[in-house]
Amino acid sequence: MLKKLMRKKTTDIQSLNERIEIVKKRQIPNHIAIIMDGNGRWAKQRKMPRIAGHHEGMKKVRQVTNFANDLEVKVLTLYAFSTENWKRPKIEVDFLMNLPGEFLNTYIPELMEKDIKVEMIGNMDALPAHTRNAIEKAMEITKDNQGLILNFAMNYGSRIELVHVMKELAHEVAEGRIEANSINESVINSKLMTAHLPEPDVLIRTSGEVRLSNFMLWQLAYAEFIFTEVLWPDYNEDCLLQAIEEFQNRDRRFGSLEGDQKG
Ligand code: IPE
Ligand code: IPE
Ligand code: MG
Repeated sequence: MLKKLMRKKTTDIQSLNERIEIVKKRQIPNHIAIIMDGNGRWAKQRKMPRIAGHHEGMKKVRQVTNFANDLEVKVLTLYAFSTENWKRPKIEVDFLMNLPGEFLNTYIPELMEKDIKVEMIGNMDALPAHTRNAIEKAMEITKDNQGLILNFAMNYGSRIELVHVMKELAHEVAEGRIEANSINESVINSKLMTAHLPEPDVLIRTSGEVRLSNFMLWQLAYAEFIFTEVLWPDYNEDCLLQAIEEFQNRDRRFGSLEGDQKG
């Protein structure tokens, strides 16, 4: 408790830059995944339409991405649209489907300058052509960049991802391409849309909701979960820094007796 209070006090008096220096000396998470939630409530609080919240949220994507890149995070996965979000009113879905085009077109020069690579997980085929084209264009232009991977989860659902893995493996077994007995965790990993990425070290969800909403169920097996009341359009560098500080103070045991319990 005292440790926690002291930490809070130190946090208050240190400037952002000093905190960044400290965080950089410790382990920076390789992969941060964020469920960007609360856009609608942010707008409602201001008596604005929900889409205004999504537009403001889009600006935060840029801000948080640039900051994660500065901190040398390797992968930032952002849950932008779930397979369940199609249930929303058409006008809202249409607005959300326009955001990648607006966002990526204006952000591409900065992505190039900062060496950031755009990727996507989710079912791209079911996206409207203009949305798909915008994402594909950004992926193509940034494909050789070596800095942060900015991975959008767009029309993504973890269960459907796992269903596809199971189907593919069932076909491979049926056709004699793989032995049922040789299916193991790494075989399953290799079939996921995240096969080439490190597992998320941290999962952040904004807006006070404490659930996964069908996000990376397999991949998050050992991630540190950080839930914050902050609504996504209010999220900023300080919030991400706080999350990383929290992560760095966690004792990740992975089932062993490292850290406090060792003895
Ligand atoms: C998150 O904000 C953005 C998407 C799910 C696309 P919401 O739109 O879910 O905002 P709330 O939860 O209604 O406040
Ligand atoms: C999860 O948020 C999906 C995204 C952030 C893209 P939702 O707002 O759709 O989740 P629920 O409906 O509250 O579970
Ligand atoms: Mg929501």
